[in-house]
Amino acid sequence: MTAPHHTSASPAAPAPARTVRKAVVPAAGLGTRFLPATKATPKEMLPVVDKPAIQYVVEEAAAAGLDDVLMITGRHKRAIEDHFDHAFELEQALAAKGDTVRLDAVRDPARLANIHHIRQGEPLGLGHAVLCARRHVGDQPFAVLLGDDLIDPRETLLSRMLQVRDRHDGTVVALMEVPPEQIHLYGCAAVAPAAEEGVVRVTGLVEKPSRQDAPSTYAVIGRYVLDPAVFGILERIPPGRGGEIQLTDALQELAAGGTVHGVVFDGLRYDTGDKADYLRTVVRLACDRPDLGPEFLAWLKEFVATAEGDTADRHPLAA
Ligand code: G1P
Repeated sequence: MTAPHHTSASPAAPAPARTVRKAVVPAAGLGTRFLPATKATPKEMLPVVDKPAIQYVVEEAAAAGLDDVLMITGRHKRAIEDHFDHAFELEQALAAKGDTVRLDAVRDPARLANIHHIRQGEPLGLGHAVLCARRHVGDQPFAVLLGDDLIDPRETLLSRMLQVRDRHDGTVVALMEVPPEQIHLYGCAAVAPAAEEGVVRVTGLVEKPSRQDAPSTYAVIGRYVLDPAVFGILERIPPGRGGEIQLTDALQELAAGGTVHGVVFDGLRYDTGDKADYLRTVVRLACDRPDLGPEFLAWLKEFVATAEGDTADRHPLAA
């Protein structure tokens, strides 16, 4: 019998790579804000123009060089698995017709990255969802992308965050200044200056504070590059706001230890988390599309002009 070959025991074994390769996408939420659309369809699969919202997120991870994506899903999320898989019958039918454009559209999601799925089991919060990724991620830094925040494909936020992680180690969060009356919707960061343009040191974090208690107007938006040290903290912290294991609470511990940086983002971000924002996202991205934009925008202008006319007709005093 030969002895097992333990490469890791060799003194010449290379140090573990610190480069981020894996992305985690929590997608276990119930999507109650979009009922009844989300009764049988995961909210992540709602179309933004003609792609499900979650495809934009996976495309963003892939564009930043992350070739391994772990979805943390729950019950009723089969559609997500199917979307990032091959669809042989559909592909065969399109291939037989010679419809290469649609064939590519069907094949693209499965080609973006190596996509894995695990289930959260119990809806115990975002921190718990991230903890579910522990075994898959191992002892490596990793990115977390939340599906309600879409970052415009022309932006390079995630790549900038990965560069900051390369330079400083530790954890990196994306921050965006929001009006004070909106800070209660987000994790909020207390910050101090850093030597680099567009980067701050994060000295504290609090989940969804009231306007009075907020240490700043810097909101954490849904992009993180996390040090694996976060897992040990998530495992032991008690439930926080809303009775859930909060990622922000774990990051607060890391921030207190001085290992969290923030990349300040002032670019194009779309919030698909509520109905009005979702509609705005669809309209904006449709207007930007070369194949749809010009015609759609022309219609939109006419529609708005007519709608304003209608309002004036109905409310003559308002005109
Ligand atoms: C989550 C986080 C919060 C963060 C937000 C960004 O909240 O808990 O800290 O600011 O995402 O979108 P949620 O919007 O899931 O309630």
